[in-house]
Amino acid sequence: MVSEIRYNLHLGYLKNNFFMKIKSICCIGAGYVGGPTMAVIALKCPHINVIVVDNNSEKINAWNGSLEKLPVYEPGLKNIIKKVRGRNLFFSNDVDNSIKKSEIIFMAVNTPTKKQGSGAGMAADLTYVEACARKIAEVSTSDKIIVEKSTLPVRTAEKIKEILSENSSGLKFEIISNPEFLAEGTAIEDLFKSDRVLIGGDQTDSGKAAVDLIVDIYKNWIPENKILKTNVWSSELSKLASNAMLAQRISSINSLSALCEKTGADIDEVSLAVGMDSRIGKEFLKASVGFGGSCFKKDILNLVYLSKYYGLDDVARYWNQVIKINNFQKSRFSKKVIDELNGTIRNKKITILGWAFKKNTNDSRESAAIEIADTFLNEGANISVYDPMVREKTIKEDMKELWINSGDSHDQIVSKSKQINIYNNAELAVNGSYCVCIITEWDEFRDYDWENLIKMMKKPSIIMDGRNIINKTLISKYTKKFYSIGK
Ligand code: UDX
Ligand code: ADP
Repeated sequence: MVSEIRYNLHLGYLKNNFFMKIKSICCIGAGYVGGPTMAVIALKCPHINVIVVDNNSEKINAWNGSLEKLPVYEPGLKNIIKKVRGRNLFFSNDVDNSIKKSEIIFMAVNTPTKKQGSGAGMAADLTYVEACARKIAEVSTSDKIIVEKSTLPVRTAEKIKEILSENSSGLKFEIISNPEFLAEGTAIEDLFKSDRVLIGGDQTDSGKAAVDLIVDIYKNWIPENKILKTNVWSSELSKLASNAMLAQRISSINSLSALCEKTGADIDEVSLAVGMDSRIGKEFLKASVGFGGSCFKKDILNLVYLSKYYGLDDVARYWNQVIKINNFQKSRFSKKVIDELNGTIRNKKITILGWAFKKNTNDSRESAAIEIADTFLNEGANISVYDPMVREKTIKEDMKELWINSGDSHDQIVSKSKQINIYNNAELAVNGSYCVCIITEWDEFRDYDWENLIKMMKKPSIIMDGRNIINKTLISKYTKKFYSIGK
């Protein structure tokens, strides 16, 4: 009876009080998801105060610092931050108070793949999500709506709910799944014109009331027919499914690119022809050196883990194949370089143009560049890298993380570190190189003076276009050793 009264009070609170009074949103995690998403919410909802917190104070300082050095590079982001920072968007280290004074808490923390324990290499590491849930339970003094924003495994909402109910003193929390569908490099555009916004909640009255409150935020700029209300698990699974199916298209086209190279077909022509079938569509059919980014691999691994957990081994194998083909594509590319250099690249300079996992971002998580560079280093090559956006520190950290995870010894790490040089312009990176590998499709690479660059290279001046962005007719005038994917 007491709990029933408490529940009704909570429901009434959500429906009547919150409805008119969403004054403050807190987002935990000031990264690639939290930063841009909250900037757009603050822009579109001037009546709501948005506080983004992070326990990385360097990051918060950067968000509060120069517009030219924000921690996340996204086209359009700087201008929004300029408008709303200090107006109704704030970045803070004060996690406790920011949670306390907000009615809605978005969780946008990182969820890497587990490195150890059960599910290692597959399941998501929920350490950060759990820490957030515990923190919310510890410091809250009023009921709250918690929104899962990061990509999370299915049924995470249930775990968050458990932690909150075990650790808080009788407060009520509604857990909502509102997955992000923003792609890096176009995050702001994607947030402005989302194909759909998915909001999953418990199918209880209070769950539905909480969903409606989140709908009200998005209604400020997203047409209502694009806002889908589902149950929590459908929302969580739809996110994994969307990313898995996008990645599957890339692996499909990449697998066909290998066949094109054998048969004389041209993968760009095949993509065009296939994509013109309106049932298939043209997006995500661009052959490449392999997909990267923080989501695709992680989400598929989650799907594989989930399928295995429920005894669906065939389903698990099916999705795992998407990752296998991606690995195949990356190793095919490096092997081609080594073959072209007569099977040995020891002490030869090889240039990697582009470190980001795609253009228009400074993010390099899971970038194909990392494994390709490592293959070259293991063969004794000297690597030079240039990327317009990714910082030297990040490139070094990416490699170090890979080496540590692969169990390389201290001596191996020291020796491999000496084989990498990072430059802040392409000419220096290319000068004296045997082979230039284009890994990211940065527009500036297309427009380079390739005649001049090739002159600076050692013969036979191999150019490997891992993104099919260079005009073959043009470049063939300067070198006979030009290769692209699937041609
Ligand atoms: C992805 C999803 O698109 C987004 O909806 C989700 O919420 C987060 O994950 P993101 O990883 O930022 O976004 O970038 P995306 O544009 O999907 O590209 C992922 C990778 O696939 C990149 O390495 C990209 O270069 C590669 N790719 C993409 C291809 O190789 N070929 C293509 O045709 C498209
Ligand atoms: P994503 O791409 O999912 O946004 P990022 O790594 O860019 O991932 O950002 C996640 C952010 O979450 C990081 O800046 C990290 O410091 C922050 N974070 C993780 N756990 C916590 C926590 N418990 N409290 C506050 N911030 C956290």
